[in-house]
Amino acid sequence: MTLYLADPAATERLAGRLLRALPADTAGWTVLLDGELGAGKSTFARALIKALGHTGPVPSPTYTLVEPYRISDRIIYHVDLYRIAGDDELRYLGWTELDDGLRLVEWPERAPGLLQQADLRLSLSYDGDGRRAEFHGISERGTKLEAELAKAHPEISAGLAKAD
Ligand SMILES: Nc1ncnc2c1ncn2[C@@H]1O[C@H](COP(=O)(O)OP(=O)(O)O)[C@@H](O)[C@H]1O
Ligand SMILES: [Mg+2]
Repeated sequence: MTLYLADPAATERLAGRLLRALPADTAGWTVLLDGELGAGKSTFARALIKALGHTGPVPSPTYTLVEPYRISDRIIYHVDLYRIAGDDELRYLGWTELDDGLRLVEWPERAPGLLQQADLRLSLSYDGDGRRAEFHGISERGTKLEAELAKAHPEISAGLAKAD
């Protein structure tokens, strides 16, 4: 599913849309956010965390690698793998212990093995003044979710369309 996101607000709306499509229990889900610097990965992650009801700041996990959030009964891990150099290094951040929450992962290509383990991948890229967003279902439930998103918005599954 491909969308055109004309401005940052469209990126934020897409995060809200994904959140509404996810089940109430997102423990163990992994959503990869890829795209070059400035593509909007953090904008998307921040909007999703805020849409869940978090009101404080959403600092970049670039140095901490993981920023955890507990929002009512949900746990979200905002992960940034920029400083990771391969699958082996995932243990530095205790990746396997993060399975009680929803993992939002920036720079997933630093740990290529994650591509097989994730549920959904959102690829963001520059497109004129805006951004292009592509959802790829990876796991069975992720693929189902992508299909539901596309079905709910048939104009989007047909190709490039506005985010709302
Ligand atoms: N759809 C969009 N169109 C234009 N600009 C956008 C869009 N989404 C986000 N931006 C802007 O692009 C920049 C993205 O920064 P950021 O989210 O930190 O990117 P990344 O985490 O991918 O490096 C921000 O300045 C943001 O306001
Ligand atoms: Mg970022």
